[in-house]
Amino acid sequence: MLRRVSFAFFVISIIVHSVCYAVQPYKVLLKNGEILTLEMVEDAKTDVGPDVRLGLEAFEGAFRGASVSELETHFGSDRDIRGYYQKLIDEDDVVPFQKGEMIWIRAFLNHKLVAWMTLRTEFRGPHIVYVSTLVVDPDYQKLGIGKRLIASIKAHWFPESEEFDLVVRRINYDALSFYERLGFLPAPDIRSDYVGDPTRCMFMRLAGPNLQNLNPSHGQNERALLAKPGVEARQDFASL
Ligand SMILES: CC(C)(COP(=O)(O)OP(=O)(O)OC[C@H]1O[C@@H](n2cnc3c(N)ncnc32)[C@H](O)[C@@H]1OP(=O)(O)O)[C@@H](O)C(=O)NCCC(=O)NCCS
Repeated sequence: MLRRVSFAFFVISIIVHSVCYAVQPYKVLLKNGEILTLEMVEDAKTDVGPDVRLGLEAFEGAFRGASVSELETHFGSDRDIRGYYQKLIDEDDVVPFQKGEMIWIRAFLNHKLVAWMTLRTEFRGPHIVYVSTLVVDPDYQKLGIGKRLIASIKAHWFPESEEFDLVVRRINYDALSFYERLGFLPAPDIRSDYVGDPTRCMFMRLAGPNLQNLNPSHGQNERALLAKPGVEARQDFASL
């Protein structure tokens, strides 16, 4: 009996530990030496208004490479990118987050919100994570923040994940280059009725060796991170 109770206690403590671990902030070192802190927003009542505004800024700058006719095809004759994404982020991210159906991860540099992403787990099957939205403040792009957010999914939030799926707009040439650089591949086999018109959007998938290669030097810069003032040994580390 005692053995059974202690076994049950052991199992419960493992579960509690893994749940607590999963929501611990995660720190990563950027190439410029700054520490990026990633945090999961745990309270569904949290005001994500600042995140949405940051996202709108990012999307407004995302279609620099698109022609006027492409913009009209995708966003209507008034080319209202901001209005389009205001509605989309609200419907696809904010409302599901408030219902507890979406995971919201924020990224901070020196306590300033610089990026965020939203995730659904168990998308289409076990261990498949769907990246709903990923945005980096335009003033902080090309520093490796987007890559570290994606890499953190397996390195920290969902270590069991085996595949990341996402949808990207075909005229979002910057995002397409970014996802290709990370190893995402077009995945036309994924059903696209989820996102509407497949001529405008495409599914991409990161899996297998490309996913493993996303965190090639996990812990390699641990010493460098530990040398930073205010960083404690107990914290989790990663570098790319
Ligand atoms: C797409 C986005 C998330 C990329 O974030 P980011 O922090 O600037 O990207 P990173 O600095 O992490 O780049 C990672 C790699 O991709 C490459 N990359 C990033 N943007 C690129 C671009 N426009 N063209 C070519 N390569 C690019 C980087 O050079 C880097 O390569 P490296 O690892 O060899 O150095 C960001 O530009 C953004 O927020 N865009 C607007 C919103 C959006 O379109 N989101 C995606 C759709 S949901």
